[in-house]
Amino acid sequence: MGKIILTGDRPTGKLHLGHYVGSIKKRLEMQDNNDFEKMYVMIADSQALTDNFDNPEKIRESIKEIILDYLSVGINPEKVTIFIQSMIPELTEYTFYFLNLVTLSRLERNPTVKNELSQKDFNNTIPVGFLCYPVSQAADITLFKATDIPVGVDQLPMLEQTNEIVRKFNSLYGDTLVECKGILPDNETSFRLPGIDGKNKMSKSLGNCIYLSDDEKTLRDKVMKMYTDPNHININDPGKVEGNVVFTYLDVFAKDEDFEKYLPEFANLDELKRAYGKGGVGDVKIKKFLFIILNELLTPIRERRKVLEQDMESVYNILKEGTKEARIVAKKNMQQFKQALRINYFE
Ligand code: TRP
Repeated sequence: MGKIILTGDRPTGKLHLGHYVGSIKKRLEMQDNNDFEKMYVMIADSQALTDNFDNPEKIRESIKEIILDYLSVGINPEKVTIFIQSMIPELTEYTFYFLNLVTLSRLERNPTVKNELSQKDFNNTIPVGFLCYPVSQAADITLFKATDIPVGVDQLPMLEQTNEIVRKFNSLYGDTLVECKGILPDNETSFRLPGIDGKNKMSKSLGNCIYLSDDEKTLRDKVMKMYTDPNHININDPGKVEGNVVFTYLDVFAKDEDFEKYLPEFANLDELKRAYGKGGVGDVKIKKFLFIILNELLTPIRERRKVLEQDMESVYNILKEGTKEARIVAKKNMQQFKQALRINYFE
């Protein structure tokens, strides 16, 4: 049997460059390699509701943004089944039975959840649904028998927990579920792309994002505001490359051809870094260079989005069809699951 690829995003806003390098780039690569039996991309609205239950309208709106982002970035619905999590009720059923196989202390130990809890300030009133979302994520993955999960590093604890559940389930009820593995970006700098402030990972709640749909002016303004080296005041001062966001981004996005085309005084990034370190290269110069590179990446995405926005009915139809298809698989796999659990009473 070939690979079954599955991944997803919480619809809590538009997709940004952190999503792009953290997982979307890999998805596109995998989609175009054609080395799979099935590929799914899921809009994880139920998961998004676990910490946005007081704002369902935001989730509803974001589904529109995310499907537009997917299609404009190049996810091809002819090859990939795109669906909405909450419209597959079998996912909720799986989750319910999985909850028996996980302890409270194991949930509290999940480093990604821990990190989110510390950011969210729930104090002593943690909603149980939020704490359990890794279990629902295990359902997302196993219901579709997914083997390959293109994700950012922050999702690895979820996959580890998924595989623990798979092993426990299979040992109790017989071989039914399949273990999965994460597929990370090639470039390690992409693991945690910093936001333009340089302080933290790019994240909507921190207001430090470059969105895939940002227009040219917004993109230019954001790049010009990027954190560089605060001690690099005059052009001739030696500049620091480490911790300098512009260089972090160049590490991820700049190719040698870009130098040839747009900054021919330097053969490649190493040369530019050396010159910047010595002094004599201004921040505006490196920012302009980065802007050109990012704008070249984002222009076609932006343009496709504009076209797609004109016909939202067709866009929603893609989601509807994908969800219908995913549901068929879900129903079929649910039968096996119930049989293993001995709850298929009338069969
Ligand atoms: N937790 C993921 C995120 O926050 C979204 C997600 C939900 C997911 N279900 C998934 C990712 C299954 C991979 C596989 O981005």
